Amino acid sequence: MKPKLAPSILSADFWALGDAIEAVSEHADMIHVDVMDGCFVPNITMGNVVIEAIKAHSNLFVDCHLMAVRPASHFDSLAASGADSISFHYEASDDPRKDLSSLRKLGIGASIAINPSTSEEVLITLLDSTDMVVVMSVNPGFSGQRFIESAIDKIRCIRQWREEMGLGFEIEVDGGITAENIERAAEAGATVFVSASSIFGSKDPAGAAAELKRLASVGMARCPFGASSPQKAVGADNLLWGKEQ
Ligand code: DX5
Ligand code: ZN
Repeated sequence: MKPKLAPSILSADFWALGDAIEAVSEHADMIHVDVMDGCFVPNITMGNVVIEAIKAHSNLFVDCHLMAVRPASHFDSLAASGADSISFHYEASDDPRKDLSSLRKLGIGASIAINPSTSEEVLITLLDSTDMVVVMSVNPGFSGQRFIESAIDKIRCIRQWREEMGLGFEIEVDGGITAENIERAAEAGATVFVSASSIFGSKDPAGAAAELKRLASVGMARCPFGASSPQKAVGADNLLWGKEQ
């Protein structure tokens, strides 16, 4: 099993977004698109038209991170724009199980994210319905924040549950990922690694992406479950993540 890298375009140069994505595409298993509504989080970022542009000009898998209230009201249009997976926030959802099921019915990845202050325990009964869990390692809203260390224990716990339950969902870590901490996140059991500023804030984004992926592989090799490749999550038989496509 190999780590998956999800460069987040939140720190890219939007004047030259296509060039920025192309520069890292060799190392990107998916492109992470942070959709923020200015309500669930203070910031307003991007949405449908950006996803449409990525899909029109590349065959990259779009990992849409939806930071919005009433998330389900956006599922249809984001899927129609080309989102291959949508992560909504547990904190924003009235009915997470129903929302996960709605995403699966759309034939896209059904993913649920939890904020740093939300206990992983809230996910236990949802794990068999999810294709990915997103452990936020910063408070959502902005790129360039410092990694919150408690995410490591959260990842370890969720990975342990995944193995005990025999499930195959991906575990994404999002926020503050750097060359200093990515190995530890991988060793704890993360399988997908988001990074905005460590990649697009670098003078050499492709080199930074390659190095992050290399370090994630080193960490993953130390994960007690590192060799176990994810089985297909229940109900998502046709979903192939990133470059598995
Ligand atoms: C934060 C976003 C992250 C962000 C990560 O709300 O969800 O995806 O882009 O940025 P870095 O890697 O700079 O912390
Ligand atoms: Zn994100």
